[in-house]
Formats: sequence, structure tokens, C-alpha cells
Amino acid sequence: MTTEPTRRPLALVTGGTRGIGRAICEVLAPTHDLLVGGRDEASVAEAVAALSAKGCTAHPFVAELSDDDSTAAAVERAAGVLGGRLDVLVHSAGIARSGTVEELTREDWRVQLEVNVVAVADLTRRLLPALREARGQVVVINSGSGFLSRAGGGSYSASKFAVRALTDALREEERGQVRVCSIHPGRVDTDMQVDLQRSKGRAYDPDEHLRADSVAATVRLAVDASPEAMVEELSIRPVHP
Ligand SMILES: NC(=O)c1ccc[n+]([C@@H]2O[C@H](COP(=O)([O-])OP(=O)(O)OC[C@H]3O[C@@H](n4cnc5c(N)ncnc54)[C@H](OP(=O)(O)O)[C@@H]3O)[C@@H](O)[C@H]2O)c1
Repeated sequence: MTTEPTRRPLALVTGGTRGIGRAICEVLAPTHDLLVGGRDEASVAEAVAALSAKGCTAHPFVAELSDDDSTAAAVERAAGVLGGRLDVLVHSAGIARSGTVEELTREDWRVQLEVNVVAVADLTRRLLPALREARGQVVVINSGSGFLSRAGGGSYSASKFAVRALTDALREEERGQVRVCSIHPGRVDTDMQVDLQRSKGRAYDPDEHLRADSVAATVRLAVDASPEAMVEELSIRPVHP
């Protein structure tokens, strides 16, 4: 009698080239095979090589997630790696365009909502059969801005409120089949935060921020929950006010 070789669980992490997504890849690498998401082929190849050098089985998942065709093609290319099953889908890709209602154009709003919300819904939809097959888990990196909207942050918060609505609905739609977790970090020391602070003319102090690997640890917590348990929502904020 031949038995199928047991494979390690597989995780797809969007935004896996930099920042929080890269730290999530690192924290999952000891236990999971990885599909590393990013839109730039060279950056994705660099991340895949670095993870592979540490003994992890990593594959590229190159997609411009705001583009339907690019996303569809990436999912198709990944079919062989997926083999019809996906254990963990982490949505970490995201953008932050700050500006007041007076300042931001229709295009600014469209791009922000497209990347932070529409792309999350679309990629999840495409991978749901594989997630169901594996009794898998979706983790969305939301933000403190998914609960609170401040002056100059309306568009970013609108995208994060919306993606919280998406995860709340998905959790109930898939209850018993796919677990859904929403993670809400405060400010994190990544390129996104450096750009945001600089655009506001503020001095940047990394020590006033969460480390990306601290956020990745919350993803690990959700992924490690025992099968009957679902970590539904987590907030993590810097100690510094
Ligand atoms: N940093 C913070 O303070 C903070 C706080 C709370 C929540 N968050 C959330 O955490 C997530 C990760 O943020 P981060 O700080 O790690 O950001 P980051 O350092 O700017 O990295 C963003 C990642 O998303 C990818 N990405 C952006 N737009 C994309 C698109 N259209 N298609 C495919 N990939 C795309 C980038 O790929 P490229 O390398 O190709 O650009 C990069 O890998 C975001 O959802 C963000 O809203 C961040």
C-alpha cells in the first residue's frame, strides 16, 4: 500500500517582500511552506531566496493585487504548489495614502480602496475552495485605523473599516470551515510608517513604534490556535503613547 507523503501546511502571505508581511513569512517559515506575495518579481525572488537559505520551502507569488488579470494569473501559476489546499492566507499587502477630504482626489480614494479592500475580497474569493479544503485560516492585517478615524486619515480608515466589515462577514459565512482573524496593529516600524511620518514633517523614532516581528507574533498566535478555537480579533499597540 502506498501512502501520500504528508506535506507541511502552506501559507500565502501577501506583501511578503517587506515590513510586516516579511516578518510574518519569517515567523511561519519554521512550520509552513510559503508562497511569498509581492508585485515586483526581483523583490519577491530576493525574499524567496532569503527564506530558502534558512531551510524553508518558499515559492514566489507575484501579482499586482489591484489588477484582476495579474491576480488571476498568479493564482493560476500557484495551482501546482497549492494542490487544491491552502492552510493560511495572510493579507498584509496594503497602502496608506493620508490626506484630508479636501486634498484627496477620486483617484486617491479609488486606489486606496482597491488595494486595501477590493483586492482582499477578490484574492480571498479565488482561494476559498482551497482554504475550505484545508479547513484553513484567513488573517487580515488591519490597523488601529480600522476602529478610529482621525483628521487626515479618512481614506485609510475608510479602507480599514471596510476590510473589517469584510472579515466580520466572512467569519460568519465560513464559520466551521475557514477561520478568520483580524489583526489591528498600532504604528509599526516599516517603510509605510517612515513615509507617513516624513510626509507629515515629523521626526521618526523607530523606538516609538512596534517591531514588525511583534505583529508577526500575533499572526503566529492565531495560526497556532487549536482546531476548535478561533482567534477572531487582536489589537496590538506600542507601549509608548
Ligand atoms: N506600518 C504600520 O504602521 C501599520 C500599522 C497598522 C497596520 N498596517 C497594515 O499592515 C500591512 C502591511 O504594512 P507594512 O507597514 O508592512 O507596509 P510596507 O512596509 O509599505 O509593505 C507593503 C507591502 O505590500 C505590498 N503591496 C503594496 N501594494 C501592493 C499591490 N498593489 N499589490 C501587491 N502588493 C502590494 C508591497 O509590495 P512592494 O514591495 O512591491 O511595494 C509590500 O510588500 C498594511 O495592510 C498596513 O495597512 C501597517
